[in-house]
Amino acid sequence: MSITILAIESSCDDTSAAIIRDGVVLSNCVANQDAHAQYGGVVPEVASRAHQVNIVPVVDLALKKAGVNKEQITAVGFTRGPGLLGSLIVGTSFAKSFALALGLPLVEVNHMHAHVLAHFAEDPKPKFPFLCLTVSGGHTQIVLVRDFMTMEVIGHTMDDAAGEAFDKSGKLMGLGYPAGPMVDKLAQKGTARFSFPEPSMEGLNFSFSGLKTAILYFLKKQTAQNEHFIEENICDICASIQDTIVAILLKKLRKAARETGINEIAIAGGVSANSGLRKAFLELGEKEKWTTYIPAFQFCTDNAGMIGVTAYYKYLAGVFCEQDAAPFAR
Ligand code: KG4
Ligand code: ZN
Repeated sequence: MSITILAIESSCDDTSAAIIRDGVVLSNCVANQDAHAQYGGVVPEVASRAHQVNIVPVVDLALKKAGVNKEQITAVGFTRGPGLLGSLIVGTSFAKSFALALGLPLVEVNHMHAHVLAHFAEDPKPKFPFLCLTVSGGHTQIVLVRDFMTMEVIGHTMDDAAGEAFDKSGKLMGLGYPAGPMVDKLAQKGTARFSFPEPSMEGLNFSFSGLKTAILYFLKKQTAQNEHFIEENICDICASIQDTIVAILLKKLRKAARETGINEIAIAGGVSANSGLRKAFLELGEKEKWTTYIPAFQFCTDNAGMIGVTAYYKYLAGVFCEQDAAPFAR
């Protein structure tokens, strides 16, 4: 009998539902929330309310697109955390009610595990053990993945996440929220001719808060001399910021690969959609003789497809949760 999972993701500002049959993603629907752009960041209260509005239509759409009806669902997977509590409560409550009403087993999923296991949504799949650089708006981690259930974070950020570094520096230049994709777009037309200091962080850990401050002072100094500095140089500034963030990330990834001797290497999370990171990662992989893995765009940023794939492997391992499972923020 086939295993058909309805998966729900609502950890931040995207409401997503997906249908996964025997590990294959049949549909992966995301309702983005535009409401946050005007505030320059995600407003938790606004996000929770939008999830409330979006969740039923998104689940409906995922079922329709997959050509599956609710009686064919065998389990429900959902993001239990980490994320914004109010947002998680909406997805968690929906998943629990759906499962209770239809008498289905529930599978809780850790959002960060799911970013890593997004690689199993498609071929080619990484071979265990592999390293995954998981870079999102809230996290920056190097994860040693031993199998579907066993992962060890061997490096992480001590302050801001890589996505935050993109978003906050973009904000300083007046780009909307989230600024990451915009910085990427502008960087493609620019030259990285400005240099910013890279942090000296021990071991495999990262730090991005110094970069943000350096960019702030750089922009202040330049605009004091020329008030049009940002608009005249926006593409080059973006290219320089992007290059610096990518260099910081890949330096530690290379160190991790050399220290562990692992050459199956993946990137994941929202920032893995960045064109500069994807290109530099592939180039480095060739030089270091890695087998490299980059998720398709739909599996980089937050999506229920990756939640469903993770839930599928947990289902196979017989790992379920109870109706009293409460979401966790951190
Ligand atoms: O994984 P994700 O969708 O949500 C979290 O779990 O945080 O990641 C969102 C982050 C945001 O910071 C966003 O600016 C960044 O990923 N991002 C990008 C790009 N696309 C998304 N950053 C740089 N370049 C991109 N193309
Ligand atoms: Zn995420």
